[in-house]
Amino acid sequence: MAQNTLTITDNRTGETYEVPVEYDTIRAMDLRQIKVQQDDFGMMSYDPAFKNTVSTKSTITYIDGAKGILRYRGYPIEQLAEQSNYLEVAYLILNGELPTQEQYDEWEYVILHHTFVHESTKQLMQAFRHDAHPMGMFISTIAAMSTFYPESRDVLDPDTRLKQIIRLVAKVPTVAAFSYRHSRGLPYVYPDNDLSYTGNFLNMLDNMRQGKYEPDPVLERALDVLFILHADHEQNCGTATMRVIGSSHSDPYSAMAGAAAALYGPLHGGANEAVLRMLLEIGDVKNVPEFMKGVKNRERLLMGFGHRVYKNYDPRAKIIKKIADEVFEVTGRSPLLDIALELERIALEDDFFVSRNLYPNVDFYSGIIYQAMRFPIAMFPVLFAIPRTIGWLSQWVEMLNDPEQKIARPRQIYLGYDERDYVPMSER
Ligand code: ACO
Repeated sequence: MAQNTLTITDNRTGETYEVPVEYDTIRAMDLRQIKVQQDDFGMMSYDPAFKNTVSTKSTITYIDGAKGILRYRGYPIEQLAEQSNYLEVAYLILNGELPTQEQYDEWEYVILHHTFVHESTKQLMQAFRHDAHPMGMFISTIAAMSTFYPESRDVLDPDTRLKQIIRLVAKVPTVAAFSYRHSRGLPYVYPDNDLSYTGNFLNMLDNMRQGKYEPDPVLERALDVLFILHADHEQNCGTATMRVIGSSHSDPYSAMAGAAAALYGPLHGGANEAVLRMLLEIGDVKNVPEFMKGVKNRERLLMGFGHRVYKNYDPRAKIIKKIADEVFEVTGRSPLLDIALELERIALEDDFFVSRNLYPNVDFYSGIIYQAMRFPIAMFPVLFAIPRTIGWLSQWVEMLNDPEQKIARPRQIYLGYDERDYVPMSER
């Protein structure tokens, strides 16, 4: 009869061990009993970059990378993008259920009324160099916010946690917009709490004191859908960082600054920036074949392609492609789209990409939309960090509430020198 166990035979000793299997997973600590000598440390598993290591149980986001499925709390991303809005999705991700009308109204009210930042935050941001990268400003300002809310260090108190979550979700658009205005040498625009979450963000970016700001409804909705698509993505590099930092019970501002720093890299959330730079460098559809030759010769990566989890078309990329058409109706068609479409066409037919399951990821088309909306390239990772805030914080709460979680602390295989004696400098 089938049993939910795995039998391991250690050929070094001939010993056999039986370890439980749950969710197609064995517990790494069950390997520790496997020893040659009684005083051995015991067996461990080696997994650089955590390619096959489960670090947590989670009920937030489900991804099936082979089938291209993404769901938040069970709801397909396609339905949420079509029928919901970012703040409702944020509520869902945090609380596990869609809100009732009353719950939604209260949540929306409280978020839209915590959008202002402390004046000292503004002064702090003004101290950056005129050409500071907005993501560097964003990361530093989020970290600095822990000094404004010292009570946030009480991470085990649910009410204190919720207060910081509200503050962060509400204030990240303001910090992001200030970083943008700073990089343009423009005065900062204070939030307008009568506008929607994304409408207010556009106001803080664009408003030139022309009276009551009215966001373009198509761009407001497009940005809202992009925010839904970026809200969470289970245990990615940034979220894993959030959990690791949070596991030492750091306050959420410090932990989130770390998560945002992880997101900044070009292999992660910085990829949308890298995609746009790549498309600008290619410059024309006629240069695509030569560029692809370079990719296949491994001289460079096709940015916006490939994913650690998706080995199929990223479902977010499909939705973004649709939004692009709506945005271009307002902004005019981006010439970069033709280059992107040609890259995708070749890649989806070429054995190099097909055999490696390399498909467009979320970043492949998002940058083209952001550029059409006149965002400078350096703002792209910031536009990713705003909506991901709720994902980071929800995963952080889940980690703190999980009795199995402890301070994250991986092991290593030490391959350095054995003990040796210090040599005085004069004798080296
Ligand atoms: N262009 C060309 N070749 C690629 C690409 C790419 N974009 N991505 C992967 N490959 C190749 C690798 O060279 C490797 O080939 P090999 O097996 O012959 O050596 C194979 O495909 C598998 O790739 P890995 O690097 O092992 O896959 P991994 O899961 O470690 O990396 C990653 C995933 C980092 C996303 C990678 O695909 C990449 O660098 N893509 C470009 C950057 C990018 O778009 N990042 C955004 C990801 S989405 C996000 O974070 C929000």
